[in-house]
Amino acid sequence: MRKPVMAGNWKMNCDNEEALQLADGVTARAGQVEDALVILCPPATALSTVHQVIANSNVKLGAQNLFWEEEGAFTGELSAKMLLSCGCEFVIVGHSERRGRFGNPDEAEVEDLGAIFGDTDATVNRKIHAALAAGLQPIVCVGELLAERQAGATDDVVEDQVRAALEGVTEEAAGNIIFAYEPVWAIGTGEVCDADEADRVCGMIRQILAAIYSDDLAEGMQVLYGGSVKPENVEGLMAQDNIDGGLVGGASLQADSFGRLIEAAVASAG
Ligand code: PGA
Repeated sequence: MRKPVMAGNWKMNCDNEEALQLADGVTARAGQVEDALVILCPPATALSTVHQVIANSNVKLGAQNLFWEEEGAFTGELSAKMLLSCGCEFVIVGHSERRGRFGNPDEAEVEDLGAIFGDTDATVNRKIHAALAAGLQPIVCVGELLAERQAGATDDVVEDQVRAALEGVTEEAAGNIIFAYEPVWAIGTGEVCDADEADRVCGMIRQILAAIYSDDLAEGMQVLYGGSVKPENVEGLMAQDNIDGGLVGGASLQADSFGRLIEAAVASAG
């Protein structure tokens, strides 16, 4: 049985004081939860603050990105070791807001998505290797653009991203990865993917994992859905066989709404 996950991606929100209060609110409400894995991913500036707040709880800490080199002249970047030293156990890799899908950050379509940081399948793969080597669990985001869905290319796009992400990753290491299916058109738009369809794609990701590695590994790996997850739709999503939890942006920014999502995750554990 896979443990349900509720991960909050705070994106570029919360200064240190706001982060402290939000982490405090989540911890007060769900700090002792055992039947679900609760992960907070604040901005890098607030990692240490949040780590202190959650120290005596079951809530875990994740970062939103990392760079694959260990150290050196990489202005503005953060290594896996630095994230570990702030108390991180998880790191989001390949979020669509960081992928520059066409290798050109000026492309109008990429700009529309806010995807201006140039991550590609190749950089995502490097970041996954760096995270795993350091002992961080990557939360790897995959998902199609609206135009790709409309062109009937969803399954191909997602399969390509999953396979590229796992290039050179051993079965033993892959067991530490959490995947998140995040259709780009559903992120921050309020337009949630139908639970049945999200379940279908998450199931397909599990089949790809089984094909690359083994049924056993695929059965044990957590696959999340992300994109406008809210208290109003979370139960329908969590009821699906192949959806093991949520990667949540907007609704993770208030302790009350995130607390309700955590409760739904716990309830789904049966
Ligand atoms: P959202 O973001 O919940 O605000 O749609 C999800 C995400 O980007 O991970």
